[in-house]
Amino acid sequence: MQKLIVNGGKRLRGELSLQGSKNSALPVMAATLLCGEECVLTNCPKLSDIYAASRILNCVGCRCSFSGNTAVISSESITESSIPEELMLEMRSSIIFLGAMLGRAGECTVSCPGGCELGPRPIDMHLAALRKMGVNIRESGGKIVCRTAGRIHGAKISLPFPSVGATENIILCAVKAEGETIINNAAREPEICDLCGFLRACGAEISGDGESRIVINGKAKLHGCEYSIMPDRIAGATYLSMTAATRGEIVLKNACVGAMEPFLSVLEQTGCSIFTTEDTIYLRSGSRLKAINDRIRTMPHPGFPTDAQAVLMAALVTAEGTSVFEENIFDCRYRHTDALVKMGADIQVLGKIAVIKGVEKLCGANVEATDLRGGAAMAAAALAAEGRTEISKICHIDRGYEKIEEAVRCLGGDMERV
Ligand code: EPU
Repeated sequence: MQKLIVNGGKRLRGELSLQGSKNSALPVMAATLLCGEECVLTNCPKLSDIYAASRILNCVGCRCSFSGNTAVISSESITESSIPEELMLEMRSSIIFLGAMLGRAGECTVSCPGGCELGPRPIDMHLAALRKMGVNIRESGGKIVCRTAGRIHGAKISLPFPSVGATENIILCAVKAEGETIINNAAREPEICDLCGFLRACGAEISGDGESRIVINGKAKLHGCEYSIMPDRIAGATYLSMTAATRGEIVLKNACVGAMEPFLSVLEQTGCSIFTTEDTIYLRSGSRLKAINDRIRTMPHPGFPTDAQAVLMAALVTAEGTSVFEENIFDCRYRHTDALVKMGADIQVLGKIAVIKGVEKLCGANVEATDLRGGAAMAAAALAAEGRTEISKICHIDRGYEKIEEAVRCLGGDMERV
């Protein structure tokens, strides 16, 4: 089992080019199923979740190959409409292949995407929306069997909550459906816009993405294209938090500055100097960070992103004063706090609230990554801590960060994979 060994206490300083977005690449990979031709995806991050997605594509008959950060996916012939349980369980976002398979083949059998790191992650909104579009869904023996009689039709769908995955599944199912689909209370995350950008490049007719009302006009046929995946705003938030935590200085290149605004506006309140151009973020944090006065509430975009909660917390544990988080998206997203406390942090968690009283310093410790962003938060805290930290179960971190130790070393940090 691999571990990360971190010798903390060094200021991160340097230039880093941001990886492509995992949460954008995954639905785009699913969307290639709808084209029936070759698609070339550039700026595709090399991550275990991306390889899990390619195993699903291979299993249903597509051909995927990777060369550096370019993925070539051909979906000319689909030979299988069931996705085996072991592939569904490899990552939770496997569920977005359901909408894409329905759009392509009109049928699909999947299993629930499995037990959970962040609390219950039901798919009721996904299934209710697909049913509205004429999909017949039977759930039995852990399998979800979806069939349609004829072409799937468009529908007017109002989501009870702007779920990212449900919005993606509806879009994927609707782009080749008969007629118009309207999604009200749609998720507005930048990754939704990236998915729609890809689909438009394949000939789909979609408008309103990035807003709460998305309108899709179904097209009988789409075609292949070449598309560049957007930069990863959460990896960006992570490297900025690591730099702030170590009182360092970074030039983050290939950044999606607009998409990161909700995070940057909060980070700036810690006293860091932040300057941006269209695709570059410069951050300097010369002295001890200041705690954030206002409660940091995670919300759907354009609110503060839940995926950046843990990494910002890692920077705030050594800030001057008390900061308060309110986690509103997932039930169990404070699992990293025990590890931060083991390293010397003062954190009290009560339900959705976490109160962080800044301490003077952290000390290295042996910790275990609990989930992707929680693991990244431990890495950030370890870089700021005195002494050596060993992080185990880094398979969680590898799901979302491309060679995290190389990125950190390129900023002058001491992190090694053993
Ligand atoms: N929800 C339901 N029913 C549904 C769907 C969602 O109750 O049918 C609930 C969830 O349980 C959760 C909330 O709605 O409490 C938000 O879930 P959402 O569907 O928006 O999230 P997701 O699509 O499962 C994506 C990202 C997550 C990110 C969230 C929120 C991907 C692959 N995953 O998940 O990313 O936290 O949106 O922005 O895009 C990560 O990258 O570490 C990660 C967890």
